Amino acid sequence: MAAQMQSIASTSARGVVAPRRRAQLRVSAVAELERLATQSASRRGVPEGTPVVPVRDLPSRPRRNRKSETVRRAFSETFLHPANFILPVFVHDGDKNIPIDSMPGVARLGWQHGLVDAVAEARSVGVNQVVIFPKTPEELKTPTAEEAFNPNGLAQRTISLLKDKFPDLEVYTDVALDPYNSDGHDGIVSDAGVILNDETIEYLCRQAVSQARAGADCVSPSDMMDGRVAAIRGALDAEDFTDVSIMAYTAKYASAFYGPFRDALASAPKPCAAHRRIPPNKKTYQQDPANFREALREALLDEAEGADIMMVKPGLPYLDVIRLLRDNSALPIAAYHVSGEYAMLKAAAERGWLNEKDAVLEALLCLKRAGSDLILSYYATEAAKWMADDKPSWR
Ligand code: PBG
Repeated sequence: MAAQMQSIASTSARGVVAPRRRAQLRVSAVAELERLATQSASRRGVPEGTPVVPVRDLPSRPRRNRKSETVRRAFSETFLHPANFILPVFVHDGDKNIPIDSMPGVARLGWQHGLVDAVAEARSVGVNQVVIFPKTPEELKTPTAEEAFNPNGLAQRTISLLKDKFPDLEVYTDVALDPYNSDGHDGIVSDAGVILNDETIEYLCRQAVSQARAGADCVSPSDMMDGRVAAIRGALDAEDFTDVSIMAYTAKYASAFYGPFRDALASAPKPCAAHRRIPPNKKTYQQDPANFREALREALLDEAEGADIMMVKPGLPYLDVIRLLRDNSALPIAAYHVSGEYAMLKAAAERGWLNEKDAVLEALLCLKRAGSDLILSYYATEAAKWMADDKPSWR
């Protein structure tokens, strides 16, 4: 201690010192420390036992830029805004809203009423983008999923109704066969258990065009077939839908975090078909969670094929992939905060293990910080409400 004090005193003798420091040094540093040491802790305003130490000579103290709410807000690098959110909605062909057990607070909405109310509520807090997921009755599902492009299908009716009621609402759709496929895969499955790429693309194109005809603003292929973005762009343009955008699920991983979504739509792979080998998972088309560079390969292809937005999915476990795409493309990047991420937060919040508002807003902010412009989240409306309530202390 004495040696340290000595060094402080001699440092100060070396030359130019700031006026405030000079004032401090009018009494020698050593004497000042000795004087402080004789004062009681309560006089010094610190707990008993707090050591008396010299001021450290730190050229940089990052804590200065965190010292008040005003400066913290002033120096914040990332802001969340409801305009960035896309609310995923589940609809069914009935009247009542049916709760989804594994997603407390989320329901399959009656497409004519519950859905319209949910969208009006989202808009009232600034969320003006939705993506629609229809729950197809089992009897309409087939191995080739033709219901996906039924002009009178639930998705198509829902899109038209929403665009009719809310013309400035941005309506996104999901392009993939799984909600309509009796085998529960995003593409057509051969008897040997192969998810057929090029044959599936033919139907994805028809699906996208039928959604565009119904009024969709942006179609979102989530199927992970190779070459589908270019094919869908071509099919849309051939029908004069040059203004309909494509949000490609660029880096969609074969993730366990989609479980609650598959409950919501009863869309999980169904490997029990007689005489046919239906793969129990989606690993031959969705990406391996172990892989990073592969996301860049997908991104280069999707951008070249004409995607307008590129998505990473799931969200929080894949922040590195979001950053990878952000740094390698000028396109807007979307992050999907998926059903399993929602369910985890809800479950912990229900048990009182997490502060739901703080944890959710932090999760969404981190998706933004990692580089996403758009965030798809089942929390979109609730988060926007919390954000509206969140006034700084000086207002
Ligand atoms: C369909 C699709 C899935 C999700 C979005 N579109 C499920 C899947 O690929 O099995 C998951 C979304 C979520 O979990 O919230 N292709």
